Amino acid sequence: MNGNIIIKNASQLVTCSGSAAKKGKEMAELHLISDGALVIKEGLIDAVGTTEEIEAQLETSDTDLNGFDVIDARNKAVLPGFVDSHTHFVFGGYRAEEFSWRLRGDNYMEIMSRGGGIVNSVNATRRAALDELVQCGIQRLDAMLSLGVTTVEGKSGYGLDRDTEIKQLEAMAHLDQVHYVDIVPTFLGAHAVPPDYRGKEDAFIDFLLGDVLPEVAEHNLAQFCDVFCEKNVFSVAQSRRLLSRAAELGLKPKLHADEIVQTGGAELAAELGAVSADHLLQASDEGLRRMAAAGVVATLLPATAFSLKEPYARGRHIIDAGGAVALATDFNPGSCFTESIPLIFALATLYMGITTEEAISAMTINAAAALDRADTIGSLDVGKQGDLVILQYPSYQFIPYHLAVSTVEKVIKKGNLVFDKQKRGMTYC
Ligand code: NIG
Ligand code: FE
Repeated sequence: MNGNIIIKNASQLVTCSGSAAKKGKEMAELHLISDGALVIKEGLIDAVGTTEEIEAQLETSDTDLNGFDVIDARNKAVLPGFVDSHTHFVFGGYRAEEFSWRLRGDNYMEIMSRGGGIVNSVNATRRAALDELVQCGIQRLDAMLSLGVTTVEGKSGYGLDRDTEIKQLEAMAHLDQVHYVDIVPTFLGAHAVPPDYRGKEDAFIDFLLGDVLPEVAEHNLAQFCDVFCEKNVFSVAQSRRLLSRAAELGLKPKLHADEIVQTGGAELAAELGAVSADHLLQASDEGLRRMAAAGVVATLLPATAFSLKEPYARGRHIIDAGGAVALATDFNPGSCFTESIPLIFALATLYMGITTEEAISAMTINAAAALDRADTIGSLDVGKQGDLVILQYPSYQFIPYHLAVSTVEKVIKKGNLVFDKQKRGMTYC
């Protein structure tokens, strides 16, 4: 595992080249190289070009090729590793019974208001030991890796108290150390109103600001602060107060915005210069316009809309209006219990009017931008981390075409082969 690898003869190298979010029409540009090759040296991309160009470069360079694995990617497309930029993958317990209730007609917010929903997962997560969260986390990350995910964002928010919020973030810090998948942690203490704070939402924000956020910031446990800005959860004013203070402490803002009811979350994201605003099913035209102008990435979560039987966010409209769209799973135990990247591609292309090319930008470079990491991941450019997927098919067009089934054959993380479908067994850590 030295992080040195050469990939040659790829029928298509889908570089997604760039170092910032792609907006509007730019999202359709994938910057393909036919018969492509790339060299990863000590985990970082060292050279990208046609196989002919790379072979010529290697012949004249003084690189000792003995230390390099070589993969022949003939008839296979190669893309940047997928970035799942919105998940809640660290939690205790499951909510299968709530899914059954929803099938019988109960709605998600009603279940939440009668004490189920997120609070149900909060109780189970409070009971879970740190090690249980870590062990479950490893299994979930294994599944994500096998679908081509090389970086994942994970949120706290199933604690709503100081110790459990910290426990979730510590579980993620540990997972980042022991697993190949890179983890970007987000503090989502304002995910729901705990029962003892019902009707006292401002006091709960005070508690987060006074007792939890300073510790999260001091120990560098999260890079972002997120909030469920929603009717009957946290208002725009409460969200603004939390995110502004978090930004002062170095946690960049993100929002669950305009998911069920239009409350002005998109407008708030633009006002605060949030890195992303997520969900946006009900976002106003004006809110989306302001987000695009302020460079806020619109992270759309089609599997959640699908699972809740809600209308999809207006992906086509956002791109046509010059916005930057990222796609993510929202993997969580309630509204969207899936880590399926293939499902996201299926829903985005078939039901949101997003083209295959735009969906790929949305799962790679724009998702990296939604994590403020477009300078280090999300494309196959020299100097970036050597994270990529090799498909079992010759073109990226097979990704949505092979409907809701993973087309990923191999995953390379920081220049090491870490998943290989052909070998059945996986090289997971
Ligand atoms: O993004 N909307 C709020 N939070 C999550 C759901 C979490 C849960 O149901 O456990 C979401 O959909
Ligand atoms: Fe979410």
